[in-house]
Amino acid sequence: MFSINNILRENIKRLVPYSSARDEYQGEASVFLDANENAFGSPLEQQFNRYPDPLQYEVKKRLSEIKGVPIRNIFLGNGSDEAIDILFRSFCNPGVDNVILVPPTYGMYKVSANINDVEARNVPLTEEFQLNLEGIAEAIDKHTKLIFICSPNNPTGNSIDRADVETLLANFNGIVVVDEAYINFSRQKTFIQELTEYANLVVLQTLSKAWGLAGLRIGMAFASEEIIEVMNKVKPPYNVNEASQQLALQALANVDQVNIWIKETLMQRDRLVIGLKDFDFVLDIYPSDANFILAKTTDARGIYNFLVQKGIILRDRSKVELCEGCLRITVGTPGENTILLQTLQDFK
Ligand SMILES: Cc1ncc(COP(=O)(O)O)c(C=O)c1O
Repeated sequence: MFSINNILRENIKRLVPYSSARDEYQGEASVFLDANENAFGSPLEQQFNRYPDPLQYEVKKRLSEIKGVPIRNIFLGNGSDEAIDILFRSFCNPGVDNVILVPPTYGMYKVSANINDVEARNVPLTEEFQLNLEGIAEAIDKHTKLIFICSPNNPTGNSIDRADVETLLANFNGIVVVDEAYINFSRQKTFIQELTEYANLVVLQTLSKAWGLAGLRIGMAFASEEIIEVMNKVKPPYNVNEASQQLALQALANVDQVNIWIKETLMQRDRLVIGLKDFDFVLDIYPSDANFILAKTTDARGIYNFLVQKGIILRDRSKVELCEGCLRITVGTPGENTILLQTLQDFK
């Protein structure tokens, strides 16, 4: 049986979190001399002299409406990369615990593991880019705290079979992290609905992809109240800045625009697939549920270098496990995709 107390680090159980000036006083007041801010203002048109809301209430309230998840089940981070790091710091004892990664997958899981001195056990995806459940079961031991599943997966673009993820959730006594950074581009359902079913589920999403706010750095984790409480305790007090909170709130009022872009992205994805298939140096294009495609080519490095000279940058993934010869191509605007396809005509 999963119990958060069985997997939480002892020092985090005992941790007394930082108490900010605004945590200690809540109510109506007009003179704030409690936080050593500059009382005169900011040398800007917009004023940022006050610390932001540590728990980002307004942004979470809006997200709660959009996602249908209570505020107490939402954590916000400085990008989902921060949420990933906080999961390591909350649950994994350095030098003792381990996590399971299923490469090829998003690179930050491994980097975060290395930073936190936590062993990353690799159980590669199958040739079909799906989970090797037997391999995962063999890799798990009593020190395994987290399993990271990225769906739709970066860099392969496909979704991971839902039933396989549910098998892990039902049988693993640690936390299964389902990273849904690209879910808005997918036909698959989000795992957010399963939060009431599985106490060991953490779903990651981000405003960096479909929402077009990568520069603001806002990532989301959805999980049980117990897990969210731990993450809030461990995070830096003001991890999402005031400008980002205000701008995110404005953007979240504009769902219609985002939905138009998602539709356009999917149309452009189809167009790129058709266009790229025409080149004889493109051997295969893997089905994608994301805003990028993975193309297997005869000469990934050659194409990459050729395009760099023309001012077009793709991601060369040819050195990544199971991705030999592969380039990862983000779906651009119609104009950008035209430039890419036209430029490739000159590649010999
Ligand atoms: C699968 C996946 N998760 C998380 C992230 C990071 O997102 P954020 O910008 O919210 O840190 C990325 C960024 O490329 C990603 O591909």
